[in-house]
Amino acid sequence: MPQLAKRFETLPEYVLARIPQRKHELVKRGVDVIDLGAGDADLMPPEAAVRRLTEAVYIPGMNRYGFGLGLVQFREAASAWMQKRFGLAFDPLKEIVPLIGSKEGISHLALAYMEPGRVAIVPEPGYASYIGGSLLSGGEVYKYALRPRTSFLVDLDDIPPDVLRRTKVLYLNYPNNPTAAIAPLDYLQRVVQRCRELDILLVFDNAYSEMAFDGYVPPSIFEIEGAREIAIEFHSLSKTYNMTGWRCGWAVARPEICAALAKVKTFVDTGQFMAVQAAAVAAFESWEQWVPRNREVFRERRDAAVKAFHDAGFQCEPPKATMYLWIPLPEGLPSATFAERLMEDEGVIVLPGSGFGAGGEGFFRISFITSPARITEAAQRAGRVLRKLTAASERTTRTPAGVA
Ligand SMILES: Cc1ncc(COP(=O)(O)O)c(C=O)c1O
Repeated sequence: MPQLAKRFETLPEYVLARIPQRKHELVKRGVDVIDLGAGDADLMPPEAAVRRLTEAVYIPGMNRYGFGLGLVQFREAASAWMQKRFGLAFDPLKEIVPLIGSKEGISHLALAYMEPGRVAIVPEPGYASYIGGSLLSGGEVYKYALRPRTSFLVDLDDIPPDVLRRTKVLYLNYPNNPTAAIAPLDYLQRVVQRCRELDILLVFDNAYSEMAFDGYVPPSIFEIEGAREIAIEFHSLSKTYNMTGWRCGWAVARPEICAALAKVKTFVDTGQFMAVQAAAVAAFESWEQWVPRNREVFRERRDAAVKAFHDAGFQCEPPKATMYLWIPLPEGLPSATFAERLMEDEGVIVLPGSGFGAGGEGFFRISFITSPARITEAAQRAGRVLRKLTAASERTTRTPAGVA
């Protein structure tokens, strides 16, 4: 059996790796499964995008390789959207990189900037491609635990100076998956300033920029003065337009940083399917009308989730953004035990905080990917499991040591 690389052995297990198989087994057994796991809603993309895709596949040229350039109209539409949404100008050909989903770009970028001896600061809990890209490129990972103490923000002053000196990449994601935290502008200003001083590439993952509520409007990192020197921002059509399966996103940055990512990609892929890029242009065109309506569906789900989980005995506040609740568990109750029992006893899929790294322990995540009624039902089932597990742990603590 050929031996695996040491680099490969360092990869942790992906939080969603085993769940689809287990879900399939439960459904086959006749269990009424409620899946609140992946950030993957049960809703349709914009009709205009679906129509454009079906038209585009009949155009012979759309079926050819896209190469790195892809469909120029896609680059132009992404650039025009950055202007419309954030008031920022980017050159469509030099400062935009089309991606096969933003995950692909985030992990491949590390190959251009990371190597043995260089450190990437990876928030934990955090999205898997930060740690994945860093480890696959042979770099060293410094995990920073996102906890309530810092409002789930990375405080660079907490990081030892010798680590900061070797740091080449900092991953930030606000609005944040899975904690649903948002970043105040003065915080982003401080981070940009420190990254400029330390010459750190700031990878700003903005996948949830359009999924915000109660009047909150998430910023682009490029609204911060000086960010263009050191930052790259990742965007995705996945959550904004319910297009997760389409695999479509883009990166935006100064030409040198875009060129580095684009060069890596010339060796690992041959471009996004251009019919999908054509359909994405239709999605961009529908942004003003379509996105507010879609956001309202998620707001209703959020409100239902907060009420139902609160009524079921959990602590939760309405998040200002994302499609997630990051719910604390009673101290001493491991999140993996809770998630496992909830799935096996009640058929409800949630993600344990520990699945996002040790820094996520003590919490679990639910996604607003089904109707308010089903989310409410899931919360009631979760409440039953919580009561069962807390009663069991009280019995254990009352049992004299050595007897249990
Ligand atoms: C924080 C974050 N970034 C990036 C992504 C990747 O999105 P996609 O690859 O679908 O564009 C996700 C998906 O869940 C995410 O939660």
